[in-house]
Amino acid sequence: MSGSAPRTVSVSRVDGRLKVTGAARYAADQPVDRVAHGYLLLSTVARGTVRAMDVAAAERAPGVLAVFTPFRPVELHGTGNPFSVGHRWLPLQDTEVRYYGQVIGLVVAETFEQARDAAALVRAEYDAHPPAASLPDGIPGATDPGPIMGEPARLEFLAPGVESIEAALAASEVTLSGRYTQPIKHHCAMEPHAATAEWQDDGLTLYTGTQSATLTVGAVAAALGVAPTQVRVVSPHVGGGFGNKIATWAHPLLAAAAARVLGRPVKVVLTREQTFTVTGHRSGLAQTVTLGARRDGTLVAVRHEAYATQSASGGTFEAAAHTTSRYLYRAENIHLDQRIVTLDIPPPTWMRAPGQESGSFALETALDELAVELGIDPVTLRLRNDATVYPGRNVPWSSKHLAECYEVGARRFGWDRRDPVPRSTIDGDWLVGTGVATANYPGERFPASVRIRFRADGTVGVDSATADLGTGMWTVLAVLGAESLGLPVDRIRPDLGDSTLAPNIGAFGSGATASTGPAVAAAARAAIAELVRVAVTHEDSPLYGVPAEEIDYDHGRLVAPGVRIGFPALLGAVGLDTVEATGSAGPGPDHGRYAFTSFGAHFCEVRVNRWTGEPRVSRITTVIDAGAIINATTARSQIVGGVIFGIGQALLEGSRLEPATGRIANANLADYLLPVNADVPPIDVHFLDHPDTLFNPLGARGIGEIGTVGVAAAIGNAVYHATGRRVRDLPITLDKLLD
Ligand code: MOS
Repeated sequence: MSGSAPRTVSVSRVDGRLKVTGAARYAADQPVDRVAHGYLLLSTVARGTVRAMDVAAAERAPGVLAVFTPFRPVELHGTGNPFSVGHRWLPLQDTEVRYYGQVIGLVVAETFEQARDAAALVRAEYDAHPPAASLPDGIPGATDPGPIMGEPARLEFLAPGVESIEAALAASEVTLSGRYTQPIKHHCAMEPHAATAEWQDDGLTLYTGTQSATLTVGAVAAALGVAPTQVRVVSPHVGGGFGNKIATWAHPLLAAAAARVLGRPVKVVLTREQTFTVTGHRSGLAQTVTLGARRDGTLVAVRHEAYATQSASGGTFEAAAHTTSRYLYRAENIHLDQRIVTLDIPPPTWMRAPGQESGSFALETALDELAVELGIDPVTLRLRNDATVYPGRNVPWSSKHLAECYEVGARRFGWDRRDPVPRSTIDGDWLVGTGVATANYPGERFPASVRIRFRADGTVGVDSATADLGTGMWTVLAVLGAESLGLPVDRIRPDLGDSTLAPNIGAFGSGATASTGPAVAAAARAAIAELVRVAVTHEDSPLYGVPAEEIDYDHGRLVAPGVRIGFPALLGAVGLDTVEATGSAGPGPDHGRYAFTSFGAHFCEVRVNRWTGEPRVSRITTVIDAGAIINATTARSQIVGGVIFGIGQALLEGSRLEPATGRIANANLADYLLPVNADVPPIDVHFLDHPDTLFNPLGARGIGEIGTVGVAAAIGNAVYHATGRRVRDLPITLDKLLD
């Protein structure tokens, strides 16, 4: 049972019925008695101070209970938490304005509409200064962000005797350099952020959609000045996170603080527009990739310089070079340089494949340009430079099958039928082209625990304080619980999304299944041992007095010579409702000896209209090497979702910041374009089956993010092949393709 990789199963979401019937409760849906409604007030300048706020009319408005501002704040404290909006400041604690759309107040009223209407009556006066809100303008002042994943932001590996990356490039037979840019982007999760805070005595219950109930407890407890044991975070369903529900933003802190002052529960639901500035986004970037190669395509030198936007108010940024060119291909000389451009904009945060998403666009486009320059097939070029050891660390990968991804993908896609000449395929009004790119994402594993509870009614609880942000974690707990205990899936009762369940850091870094799965197996072993202990020590048990080592566990039954009893009957006999145990797992002893990375290959076909320049993606084949796959149904959904995310990156998405004001001009779902069904072609997803048991006993590395990595480059490369035009600035819109 333990130590062996499970066979892949195909199970529909166990929470699917709840979701399609509307019974699944998201943060704003939780029924709470006497709840009051908060509406956030946001700044309408990007830099300066709030000189005064006139709240008199708002306070007199119907239903209003309170208006909190920097001049009449709720109390929050403790900055410095990187998992909180309080990274560098906390809302309402001073009058400084750091970006357009910053929280400067909270109106609380009996209804949402009353709070919103009253908020419109508040008048704020500012002493405003022109903001720095444009990436290009900020590049001259770009700075070193400090270490990135333990390595310097300027990182270089040179072959013996080579003096500099410039020397390596100069000595190369062919060199090529491209500058690649992409705008700030927003996660736009279907569920807008929300929080409902309810105090009972000194204990706070907070309903808020989060990828980490645990991190949210920490951030909220610190800001409110209470012990973590006083805070319970409940988040059973999360309507999409994509990294933007890891950090704790202003709304749960203010809801909790206001509820404490007012002595009744407070709910704060963000409007779609508010999510654009009150929560996080992905940095915008300008990257330059310079490649030096031999004529046969062997890479000699890779230089990757990345400038990413960051906020003066905190947050994180896209580490594009260190997550891609750092290790994606073998080259004797590698030079990475990550800089940050600090602007008067809201704090950026992690967004699906943070770093890889942008870095792969630059590197994988540059490789395609090199393939064209050398007249080498782009698949051949990548295989020629496939790395077998992790550059600079010289450790092998635990399990790496990038070449097989390309071989299998090429066959499924029909790559051998490709005419390499750009603009060579015309179908009526459409220019047809194909392109490829590599996907990569590290295997991440965190300490996690799971509690397993045999119940007298014949069901088994499997719980952990992890999250399901649409990823399928409910189903993974059910599948792995069933697998570990030899029971049918419908006997398992998973539970998650509550900080009081078995400790678990949560769902991010594509590591939830890889971390929690081994803990399910550990918990199963512990729970079975506990069941045996109860069976042999309880006088009313038919196994009373039998030596524990003579008892076997078999599909929910304890078996000894002459006795065979199912756990419900045993619990009934001894008069217990439940028997339970908790098991934990974490990174194993091999973790320093190997590199753990998932890889993949995207093959993409596009059609570009000859007359209008309109680009359409017409088909995609994606082959993923992520170790064992736990549930084929939800795993495919993860990769399809990632690919669609990449179509957005390639063709549609971008947050338009007005440089003069720092305002996001398209902070709504009409003007911020996302892929819709009509933009999404058939997507052929194939998983290689190479369980990575050096990584964990499950052999599974994780799949939440890799699907999006490289998609934009594959599409851009196909657009080049279709049209002969190289677009290095995302998104690839038709104006960039018109003659
Ligand atoms: Mo991910 S950006 O770690 O949710």
